[in-house]
Amino acid sequence: MKLFLDSADLDEVREAAGWGVLSGVTTNPSLLAKAGARDFQSVIREICTLVPGGPISAEVVSEDTAGMLREARELAALHPQVVIKIPMTPAGMAAVRALKDEGIRTNVTLVFSTAQGLLAAAAGASFVSPFVGRLDDTGADGMAVVREIVSIYRLYGYPTEVIAASIRHPRHVVEAALAGAHIATIPFKVLRQLFEHPLTRQGIERFLADWRALQAPRGVEV
Ligand code: E4P
Repeated sequence: MKLFLDSADLDEVREAAGWGVLSGVTTNPSLLAKAGARDFQSVIREICTLVPGGPISAEVVSEDTAGMLREARELAALHPQVVIKIPMTPAGMAAVRALKDEGIRTNVTLVFSTAQGLLAAAAGASFVSPFVGRLDDTGADGMAVVREIVSIYRLYGYPTEVIAASIRHPRHVVEAALAGAHIATIPFKVLRQLFEHPLTRQGIERFLADWRALQAPRGVEV
């Protein structure tokens, strides 16, 4: 499973890209607002250069197909890595179909049911993003939706890649991998948490202490 960063914060993208584990980035209007990215087009371009070759999702904000297509073409022209994030609505799926015909990649967002996942694949989306955490927040089983979408895509050979989104903690990442998601898009804090285990820290400290003891000058024997 590939790991994407779910962030529009350039410092976070830069740091996470340096860890060598990142294959792409997803943004959304809320993340851009949180990062204070007024000139969001430059931010998207910069993210593309920080994560070479990786798909970088940028979302449209129009609600009608014509508006979505206009925005999508502008965003796609920013950089070849840009993938257009489109909400799961009838107008959105019409835009996904038209963009596929133009060779522009899409990521269908705000997916909360298996049926919506099926629609995204039928429209020709490159990626689909079921929101695990937001479903869990309502008492539903978010990961079950990921599992079902993955099974249906396998059964019918849909090429659409499943991005487990709205990830809240490290266990979500592991469960997304076990569910067969192609990608998990992960907030910076959770990506950082994936590295951590108390025994790793303890082990490093023990190795370093033993190494220092070996290097220390020996006392004069009498
Ligand atoms: C997906 O691409 C979205 O950006 C994201 O995962 C939303 O998650 P949230 O529930 O943390 O806002």
